[in-house]
Amino acid sequence: MTDLYAVFGNPIAHSKSPLIHAAFAATTAQAMRYEARLAAVDGFKQAISDFVAAGGKGANVTVPFKEEAFCLSTRLSERAARAGAVNTLAFEGDEIFGDNTDGAGLVRDITVNLGCALAGKRILLLGAGGASRGVIAPLLTGQSAALFIANRTAEKAQLLAEAFADMAPVDAGNFAKTAGNCFDVVINATSASLSGEALPLPPGIFAPGALAYDMMYGKGETPFLQLAREQGAARCADGLGMLVEQAAEAFFLWRGVRPITGALLAELRTGLA
Ligand code: ATR
Repeated sequence: MTDLYAVFGNPIAHSKSPLIHAAFAATTAQAMRYEARLAAVDGFKQAISDFVAAGGKGANVTVPFKEEAFCLSTRLSERAARAGAVNTLAFEGDEIFGDNTDGAGLVRDITVNLGCALAGKRILLLGAGGASRGVIAPLLTGQSAALFIANRTAEKAQLLAEAFADMAPVDAGNFAKTAGNCFDVVINATSASLSGEALPLPPGIFAPGALAYDMMYGKGETPFLQLAREQGAARCADGLGMLVEQAAEAFFLWRGVRPITGALLAELRTGLA
């Protein structure tokens, strides 16, 4: 029996998730099918209920439906509750279980694929929107030494820091407030790379050996990564590894099998180069 999964978004044609999950299913010998489904902007709930009625077992959710998927879930993982957004749904009887694998995917890419342990590291997270919120809890559970959230609008960074204060003390402010500090890992979770805009980061924020990570992928060298390289960041990475690892985490949730990601990631990278 072939189980049915899908990714829901709008737009969705560009999604690499069907390709990634097909590769995972092939290498782990799982009998499953995974499709891309376009949902109307006001039709997400209906699309999900039609999918469940047709026997769908699970779904990924992407822009702009992650908050709606959160509201639709009848049970949430701790990390999804923290994120305020859901990117993975599992349908079990009447229950809609909502999870968020974005942060775990980011942490796994940084620690496993890039070989950069987070314990004891000073982390700077740029941005205070949904993408940023989605990864904070897993970053904090990595026992980093300190987390600083910097955002164009300082108030939004401060609100986020307060929302996670029970997990760890988090510093927050605008980009200028990071001046005089240096960080081992700097992560760009703003959408500035989408529009090709540079961030006004003060000089000297990259510690020796620092990793610069842009959650964006497929855009070549973003202005953020260019600035990081010019400022002496030792390593630069885009978000392709995060994409593959968040998918692997969702696959593990649904199938109980963790797919190997290295070969697929290398293949995708070659395709994008
Ligand atoms: P997402 O879901 O991608 O996080 P979002 O919730 O709209 O999208 O958040 C976008 C983030 O990118 C915000 O942190 C935003 O900063 P503001 O809170 O000040 O709006 C940030 N951002 C977008 N364009 C930016 C730019 N050109 N320079 C700096 N920050 C930018």
